[in-house]
Order: sequence, then structure tokens, then C-alpha cells
Amino acid sequence: MLIKRRGDIRPSEVTPYGVYLRRREFLKAGLAAGLIGAAGLAATRSVGAQGSPGKLAGIRKSNYSTLEKPTSYGDVTSYNNYYEFGTEKSDPAIYAQKLRTRPWTVVVEGEVKRPKTFGIEDLLKLPLEERVYRLRCVEGWSMVIPWVGFELKSLIEQVEPTGKAKFVEFVTAYQPETMPGVRLPVLDWPYVEGLRIDEAMHPLTLIAVGLYDQMLPNQNGAPIRLVVPWKYGFKSAKSIVRIRFVEKQTRIAWEKAASHEYGFYSNVNPEVDHPRWSQATERRIGEDGIFTPKRKTLMFNGYAGQVASLYAGMDLKKFF
Ligand code: MTE
Repeated sequence: MLIKRRGDIRPSEVTPYGVYLRRREFLKAGLAAGLIGAAGLAATRSVGAQGSPGKLAGIRKSNYSTLEKPTSYGDVTSYNNYYEFGTEKSDPAIYAQKLRTRPWTVVVEGEVKRPKTFGIEDLLKLPLEERVYRLRCVEGWSMVIPWVGFELKSLIEQVEPTGKAKFVEFVTAYQPETMPGVRLPVLDWPYVEGLRIDEAMHPLTLIAVGLYDQMLPNQNGAPIRLVVPWKYGFKSAKSIVRIRFVEKQTRIAWEKAASHEYGFYSNVNPEVDHPRWSQATERRIGEDGIFTPKRKTLMFNGYAGQVASLYAGMDLKKFF
């Protein structure tokens, strides 16, 4: 799937990952017609007007936060990628309102001594901190997002991985009745992501349950999502239902769809271009207009000091 020849693709920041050609299929399936009809309705509704999803209290500030100016709540919650709800940036804010987020459990299993199923209510009771992180999307845009959550490490320690646990797999929600996007084989649903165990245990790797001081809006991956700030945004799996510890490297959803475009590691790297998008520069959503000079993308999205050692000796062109 997602077969493209390099020469016949215009590099465009607005082209979603691999689905440009698939828009025809969306149109044929009548999905786009439905989406467009409802979009008219939603255009009269701002994100704020839909009501805030719920305030989070007792949030500690973190030293890991960037001091850069955060992207506005409106932009963070209305310019999204959540393909289960459509491939346009505006689709998730409209269609993800139907996502069922309660009851919600996260099964943690596989190569662990103490497998456990966590209820979302228990996870929301954990000590929460605010981490303001840069998010760099492989499409060439970036945001600065004040996430609220806890280190994935603290959850992993509770289940005690065995010596065989080399990778961690994140399986996300599959709700065909609420997700119009899964009617089409854009990806091999459910959306699956993966990390190497040391990446998962890194203190920068976060499980987010909120942003700003609010619980996560559905379009941003309610009720819990992954955030790995030195990797491209697509590693941040939304609406996680299962975390599995495994011996072998996971084939992630995007790799299955187009392995020459998306690799397992997906570390932000200005020196390794995506076949359709340069990774050398980026545009900050909400701040940079089309005449603003592009910002230089930083190695590991600016987190090299903390994470470069994880990849010592690896050929990052090969393991992209
Ligand atoms: N998770 C799921 N389940 N489905 C998706 O389509 N998109 C990914 C990632 N997580 C995606 C997902 C991509 S491509 C990006 S860039 C980020 O979510 C976007 O997160 P944001 O919308 O909160 O900025």
C-alpha cells in the first residue's frame, strides 16, 4: 500500500503522511462526503465551545520543560493527526468527540513478572507533572505542548519486565462504531507503536493524561497517550489500551504501511530526510507564517544531550 514514486510527488506540508492518493478512495467510499457535511456544522462550533474536558489539579512543574512559548490551546486541539477519525488536520476535533473514553482500562502484559490491568481512574490518581515538550511532526511542522502526565518508567516498574523484554508495544483503541477512519485500510488497524525498552524507560518518555491543566481532549488521544519528545510525532500513540513487553522488535503501523518512508526508530534527525519531506527545517504552528524563515530542526528535536547516548555506535541513516 501507499505506493509512490519519488518523482511524482510534490513535497507538501499539508499532504497527510501516505494517504494523499488514498483520498480518492475516501471519496469513493462516501466517507469524505459524510465528513464534509458534518464539517459545515462543526465550523460554527469552536473547540472551547464544546466545553473543557475536565480540569486536573495538583500538577507539579518539571525541570524537563522547554522554556519556549507554548502553542495555544486552540491550535494544539484543532490541528491534529488522528487517522482513525479522518486524515484532515481538522477532522479529529470534530469526529473524535464520539470516542468512548469510559470505562477505560490499559492492559499491561507480555514479558513481565506482574501483569496488571490499570483502570483509567487509578492512573489519574498518580502524581502528575507538567512537561512542556517540543513536538516535531515528520510533515515539517512543530508545536510546543504543555503535557500533563507521568513517566512511563513509573508504570513499567510496577509490572517488573523479565530479562526477555527487549521492546515495548503500544496498541491503541479500535472502535469501529465511533471511528469513521478505520473503515478504510489507510493503516493496518489498530494503530500500533513501539519503543526499545531503554527508550521506554528513559525519564523523558511520558504517558500524558492531559494538556495545559485539562484532561486530554479526545482529538489529542484521550484518555492516555504516549509522548516521546525526541521522536517524530507519530511515535506518540493515542488512546492506548494495551502495553505489551516483547522480545522482538515491533512492526509499527507506519512501517507496515510504507517501510521505505517510516522506520521503527523515527528519531528526529535533520540529516536524514523523509523521501517526501526535508527534515532540516520546520514551521511552528500558530507562530510562523509562510513568509517567516523556517526554523532549523535540531538533532533529536533538541533533546540530544539527554538521549544521544541511547544510539551510540548506531548508523542513524540505516536505523531511521
Ligand atoms: N495515534 C493514533 N492512534 N492514531 C493516529 O493517527 N497520529 C500520530 C500520533 N498518534 C496518530 C496517533 C501522529 S502522525 C502525530 S503527529 C501525533 O499523534 C499528533 O498528536 P497531536 O494531534 O496531539 O498533535
